[in-house]
Amino acid sequence: MIELKSYSPYSGIEESCFIEGASGLFYPGVRIENVSFSLTISAVRAAVCSCLANGDQPRQLYHLKSTEQPDLTDFWVNEFALKKKEKLPDKFEQYNPILFTDLTDKPIEELTRLCKNAVTIHSDFPVSSLLKTDLGYISGVNVEVSSWSMGLCAERVAISRAISHGLDHFEIIYVYAPKSSFCSPCGSCRQVMNEFMHDKVVELHHSDHTISRHFVQHLLPYGIVTDKLKKNR
Ligand code: THU
Repeated sequence: MIELKSYSPYSGIEESCFIEGASGLFYPGVRIENVSFSLTISAVRAAVCSCLANGDQPRQLYHLKSTEQPDLTDFWVNEFALKKKEKLPDKFEQYNPILFTDLTDKPIEELTRLCKNAVTIHSDFPVSSLLKTDLGYISGVNVEVSSWSMGLCAERVAISRAISHGLDHFEIIYVYAPKSSFCSPCGSCRQVMNEFMHDKVVELHHSDHTISRHFVQHLLPYGIVTDKLKKNR
């Protein structure tokens, strides 16, 4: 089993869990903080969104470590009628987030295939992403749930999946929004990408099949980057 390690440099609060999907696969989630505190992703949100973005349905919650307020969990428990379990089974199959180690097709072909997994119950606006980590490519699609503010964009699904699996070396992220004339990461995603890959590139695939490449830090001019706020710097 992988070691579940929160990214909690600002508060020190640790939280981790597994969500078991209807498929029987187990999806890890860890708490992922942001210097902009409201953008923090709870462990349960990360795991549930990873499950949904894989076309699976969340069924059971194994909350391994939690010092968080329960209200961050209750929404997800109610939303998907999750059964809470105390102990992980001795054996279980974990979701493998690495799609492939090398990109053989063009990014747009993979991004187009991924869009089918987007969960867009409100917007009908699919978005897909591919994040290159040191171990291979991890995907993301946007996930919408009954509460508009609790969903997660494609970029943050890929990033929170990677961090929940212990991967935090990101080289580039590809994003595709087929229904927007110009694919543009939202402000929250810019802030979260800035936290983990501020000197890396985001490659945007637009609906007319043109591409633009940007440094993440250029998409968030004067964004806050400081280690001073981190407890164990
Ligand atoms: N969305 C993304 O997933 N990524 C972006 O870069 C822009 C917006 C999603 C979130 C929501 O599901 C829908 O698109 C409309 O905002």
